[in-house]
Amino acid sequence: MKVYIFLCLISVAHLAKLPPSFLICKNDPEELPKCLPQAVEKALDILQEPIPELGIPSVDPMEIESLTFEGGSGTIVLNQYLTNVKIHNLRKAKVTKAELSESGDDITLEIGAFMENVTLVADYEINGHVLVVPIAGKGNARIELGNLTTTVTVTATRVDKDGEEFLKLTDVAVDLEPNSAELDFGELVPGNKQMSDEIGKTLNENWREVFAEFKGAYEQTVGYYLSAVANQLFDKVPMAELFPPP
Ligand SMILES: *[C@@H]1O[C@H](CO)[C@@H](O)[C@H](O)[C@H]1NC(C)=O
Ligand SMILES: *[C@@H]1O[C@H](CO)[C@@H](O)[C@H](O)[C@H]1NC(C)=O
Repeated sequence: MKVYIFLCLISVAHLAKLPPSFLICKNDPEELPKCLPQAVEKALDILQEPIPELGIPSVDPMEIESLTFEGGSGTIVLNQYLTNVKIHNLRKAKVTKAELSESGDDITLEIGAFMENVTLVADYEINGHVLVVPIAGKGNARIELGNLTTTVTVTATRVDKDGEEFLKLTDVAVDLEPNSAELDFGELVPGNKQMSDEIGKTLNENWREVFAEFKGAYEQTVGYYLSAVANQLFDKVPMAELFPPP
């Protein structure tokens, strides 16, 4: 499946300080395991509002200008063009695990979280087919994922900038495992409510297969967004301020 993401971020050049509302954890093996999960939850809560000084967008809702998923396989092929995408409720994540590990200059941050409800809303255009029924619709899409177990793995490496140590992001990997999904695309077959309802029902009854088809695309999207946030943060806030030495 091909994924195209367009995100409009304002990049700011200068260094900046983290707002004092953030919980900072000392890079101390005793303190980190207790402090880090709280710090991540607090950060998600604070990031309901963007931080323009750091060029960091809001994470609740995550707003993505446009998103294109092309493909599918076998019985379900849905090319989706989504615009004005908003992903709601990330601030309500319960962080179940947040671990920092270091190996040489490389740092890995693994975050596990549980979310009762993550809802994506967007304007959409879809074409493709479900079983043998051709689909060509547009309207408002709503995808509600229930009881979602998420793992986010952020890897970065220490770099020296003018004698000061910063982190440089190398990768963000996201795993999404929902326990339920509700898909609502309104009229997938324009002018034919009965057929639209039938297809809607089929998609929802087979949500696991539908989600499996698009799981990678959703994970890439969330990963891309979080990479943008992490890049801005790591670029502007030195290591000693993010994780001060004990
Ligand atoms: C999930 O969140 C959305 C958006 O905040 C809300 O409209 C919806 O009612 C919620 N669903 C449940 C089952 O709580
Ligand atoms: C999430 O799990 C709780 C507790 O098991 C359950 O009551 C609730 O209906 C589930 N929500 C969804 C949207 O699946």
